[in-house]
Amino acid sequence: MCGITGILSIEKREAIKDIVASLGDLEYRGYDSAGVATFSEGEIKIYKCLGAPSQNLHTKEIYSRIGNKARKTSIAIGHNRWATHGTPTLSNAHPHTDCHKELALVHNGTIINYESLKKALKKAGHIFCSDTDTEVIAHQIEEARKIYKSPEEAIVRTLALLEGSFGLAIFFKDYPNTLYLAKNGSPINIGIAKDFFAIASSVNALLRHTDKYISLRDGEFAVLSIKKGLPTSKIINFKNYKSGAIKKEVRKIEGVAPEDLSMGNYNSFMIKEIYEQPSVTKTTMLGRYDEKTGNAIFGGLIDYEEKLQKIHTLYTIACGTAHNAGCLGKEIIEALTDINVRNEIASEFRYKKNNFNAVDTAIFAVSQSGETADTLEAVKEAKQKGCDVFGIINVVGSAIAQESDAGVYTRAGAEIGVASTKAFISQATTFYLLALKLARERLMNVQEGRDFIKKLEEIPNKQKEVLKVEQKIKDIVTKYSKIKNINFLGRGVNVSIANEAALKFKELTYMEVGSYPLGELKHGPMAVIDKECLSVVIMPKDKLFEMNKNSIEQIKSKGGNVLVITDKSARGDSFLKKVDDVIYMPTLTNPLFYPLVEIIPLQLFAVHFANILGKNVDKPRNLAKSVTVE
Ligand code: AGP
Repeated sequence: MCGITGILSIEKREAIKDIVASLGDLEYRGYDSAGVATFSEGEIKIYKCLGAPSQNLHTKEIYSRIGNKARKTSIAIGHNRWATHGTPTLSNAHPHTDCHKELALVHNGTIINYESLKKALKKAGHIFCSDTDTEVIAHQIEEARKIYKSPEEAIVRTLALLEGSFGLAIFFKDYPNTLYLAKNGSPINIGIAKDFFAIASSVNALLRHTDKYISLRDGEFAVLSIKKGLPTSKIINFKNYKSGAIKKEVRKIEGVAPEDLSMGNYNSFMIKEIYEQPSVTKTTMLGRYDEKTGNAIFGGLIDYEEKLQKIHTLYTIACGTAHNAGCLGKEIIEALTDINVRNEIASEFRYKKNNFNAVDTAIFAVSQSGETADTLEAVKEAKQKGCDVFGIINVVGSAIAQESDAGVYTRAGAEIGVASTKAFISQATTFYLLALKLARERLMNVQEGRDFIKKLEEIPNKQKEVLKVEQKIKDIVTKYSKIKNINFLGRGVNVSIANEAALKFKELTYMEVGSYPLGELKHGPMAVIDKECLSVVIMPKDKLFEMNKNSIEQIKSKGGNVLVITDKSARGDSFLKKVDDVIYMPTLTNPLFYPLVEIIPLQLFAVHFANILGKNVDKPRNLAKSVTVE
């Protein structure tokens, strides 16, 4: 939620251009408004716009407003906003400043106690221009500087007063060669380029400058400056200001490729990422299984082999799509082992009693971004209760990855579409491999393990095959474009896919739709069925195929429309003549693996429905890619 970026350079450069480009890279983090601030002609200059930076933030327009001299500058900061406090207006857009424009700052996060701070600051004579929680930070620093001349000390004193989460980038008019950063809960990365520092909430936006970076941890405060013509950095703990500088590891950016950041020949990131799924499935599996032993290999879990052999209970904690991947994981793990799996929504887990026995329980936190505040806090809560927590994370080095005891990177690459697709496939694939590993440590024999691997290896080609149904899906979507209600239905392993399909559909079309285990329909949701309702039934030809026919008969008898997603082996079944539309997937020899294929037509269904409704599929309204607030 919200993207922040910054540049501090030895030589003056077109930092505004860099900031605009980085804000484009970070656009998926928020697109309510955008803004930049720089130091030029002895002043802090700020430019803001409403909406997404890729469409509304143009360097030419910025220079025409803040002066051409700003074309060359040593310092600049930028922000993409996902509104939390105050509607998306220009006055609420970042960067924010104090009463006398002595400083500019950008913030990602939320300040819980901003109202009481604001009240006191107003009493002290500060004039506020926005409804945001962020603006109090600027005024509080201004207030602190009345006592502590040093910006460092004023910031540290201010941070001590803040409750909530923040990633902050700040500079001052009287210290225009210094950039101050602080982190508590929201990410900040410092890219180290040849003669400048580049700052960004996510390493994606650093790649255009460098592949070396430092990631700040909670409680860290960085002072970046140019001294004697050299970029220097000092990182301290702002909670223990006097304790001296912290030595930080310079890392190489991993898990993101420059091509992840461009749409290529596709007309949306959504479609591009859907089409990337066969290769993502392969990459997630790469080097993670051994055909000889019929087992899965996770280097990241190696120190916990013994523990995983002994567990009786496994929890997944996650939100949204990652939770749906965890639910699918439950089905697979429970089908292959005697382990009980519980799927916990992270925001619920945090506040529950959670009576687990830490010795025979493992907790897997699932997250694409590795930043989701609810998941991060749930991880901390589980660890505090003495349980080992393992991450299934996409973004390398992210907060949840760092907080976990060990884990697995899902290797989906940077996912730019706000609605998750390829990250889901990579999480799901990881769960299949994890289930194999847990099963091989229990009842599954080597031959069964080898057979499981063989089936998994076939999946990328089956996914490629199912992508060919796109035109058929477009036709079906056109037919149902005026439909009022939609339910996504399935049984067994297909229920989590019905849930994920419904989530995708809601995110992209803004329509409220339902998802249920098919057998549940008659216990309430059946009331919705009429000729204006479409039931999308996921029913590959498995052992429940015949049973599903009964439920479909019931839907048809109430006048409802039915779209069946099944596999080619069901072709010729005369029952399918009774339904309105059928999408055929390739046939798999083991029905347990259908979820990895059947989600694809459902993702395409959501995208094309949204296209017909004229929605922006990459940037659904009200959503942000990384939810870093509670
Ligand atoms: C998925 O389409 C959504 N954007 C959302 O549900 C997401 O999966 C959820 O917020 C969790 O995010 P994470 O995987 O980054 O933790």
